[in-house]
Amino acid sequence: MHIMDILQNSIRAGATEISLEIREDTLLNLLRFNISDNGCGMAPDVLKTVTDPFFTTRTTRKVGLGLSLLRQNAERSNGSLKIDSETGKGTVVEARFEYNHIDRPVLGDIAGTVLLTLTAHPEIQFRYLHNRNGRSFELSTIALKDALCGIPINEPALYPTLLQMVKENLKDIDVN
Ligand SMILES: Nc1ncnc2c1ncn2[C@@H]1O[C@H](COP(=O)(O)OP(=O)(O)O)[C@@H](O)[C@H]1O
Ligand SMILES: [Mg+2]
Repeated sequence: MHIMDILQNSIRAGATEISLEIREDTLLNLLRFNISDNGCGMAPDVLKTVTDPFFTTRTTRKVGLGLSLLRQNAERSNGSLKIDSETGKGTVVEARFEYNHIDRPVLGDIAGTVLLTLTAHPEIQFRYLHNRNGRSFELSTIALKDALCGIPINEPALYPTLLQMVKENLKDIDVN
């Protein structure tokens, strides 16, 4: 759900390119994901607001719980949240979690999350890279459009097949 939320932030920021990288390293006991976009970015004062939960609580401005909740969950799992953002350039959000920490949120239905986001926004160049213990799977809007030779990627009849494909590829690298 966190990943879905951060992807939605990038979409709302008007990004035309979004990249999601997930890295699972059980030897290093690390789960890391980062989402980068070329959207509108955040001004320094906004950036400060979203990363500081205390500042967020005090203000009456309507700020969502997305990033601060992610930060809480990451820190609770002995991890961290880092946000780099520049107005007019884009944003990079990186979350780290101790892999086997009892409070680490589960990865959940990552195949569905990624595919829903990708197919719902065919105009956005989306790239997803998932690496688990050195083996990886990559999916991108460009590669998918190429492979489909003209069939729209948001064609509803296609969705179950695509989902199956992503799930099988993730299974091959031992994800879930
Ligand atoms: N990728 C992004 N690009 C630009 N602004 C962002 C991005 N992500 C978050 N923001 C800014 O930070 C605010 C807080 O985000 P978030 O914590 O997810 O709550 P919400 O999305 O509910 O507003 C957003 O409203 C937006 O102003
Ligand atoms: Mg949000």
